[in-house]
Amino acid sequence: MNIALLGPPGCGKGTQAKRLEDRLGYLQLSTGEMLRAEVESGSELGSAAKDIIESGKLVPDDMIVDMISKRIDEPDCQKGFILDGFPRTVPQAEALANLLKEKDIPLGSVVEFSVDEDAMVKRIVGRFACTFCGQGYHDDFQKPIVDGVCDKCNGTDFMRRADDNEDTVRSRLKEYHRQTAPIIGFYENLGLLVSIDGMAEIDEITKRMETIVR
Ligand code: AP5
Repeated sequence: MNIALLGPPGCGKGTQAKRLEDRLGYLQLSTGEMLRAEVESGSELGSAAKDIIESGKLVPDDMIVDMISKRIDEPDCQKGFILDGFPRTVPQAEALANLLKEKDIPLGSVVEFSVDEDAMVKRIVGRFACTFCGQGYHDDFQKPIVDGVCDKCNGTDFMRRADDNEDTVRSRLKEYHRQTAPIIGFYENLGLLVSIDGMAEIDEITKRMETIVR
């Protein structure tokens, strides 16, 4: 099954997509991670996207749609994929519908995480990840079992994202309301929308996600 995850910054899209990838083998396609990899590599796309990401604004639709369209054609997407952070505007949602139709790929559900947004700033400012395997953690909600050692790969080096500061998070939340929230109605009209409580415990949400994806 192919699904898309929708919700404001910090709602848990990446956390749940990684868990479903590990447990069920669906591939996480995070447009944010793809863009950060482009920035890291110094590519033309990365150079164009860097300042936009760090300001909390959205990267232009055509860049994103082209990037995701190429990625979906890769053989590792055959078993099923989880779109994490895409689509994020109505034109992106329309472009996704067209490209999936052309490629004859079905979209099973669009899962919307409903959350208390004041809590999102705290979630994001406390977030960090293993530098080696990308496993995500949080200073308060999801610490490694052994302090300073990654549960997944035993790595001892961690990183924080350049856009994970309070000012940028507030700008990302504004962009979410202005550009992304209108997609909810788009998918509701198509009968694909499933809303879940993103304020529940991480394990509870994973159980709920597993029932949606299977
Ligand atoms: P992106 O990387 O997609 O960031 P985002 O959407 O802002 O989402 P986050 O990754 O911040 O949050 P998340 O929902 O994945 O939360 P997480 O699971 O990590 O995009 C970054 C930028 O790239 C954008 O601002 C834009 O510039 C650009 N971009 C990307 N896609 C684009 C697109 N399609 N179009 C245009 N531009 C695009 O959880 C957060 C923290 O909370 C973690 O520490 C986690 O441990 C903790 N946590 C998670 N769930 C729970 C829970 N249930 N209870 C308690 N803590 C929890």
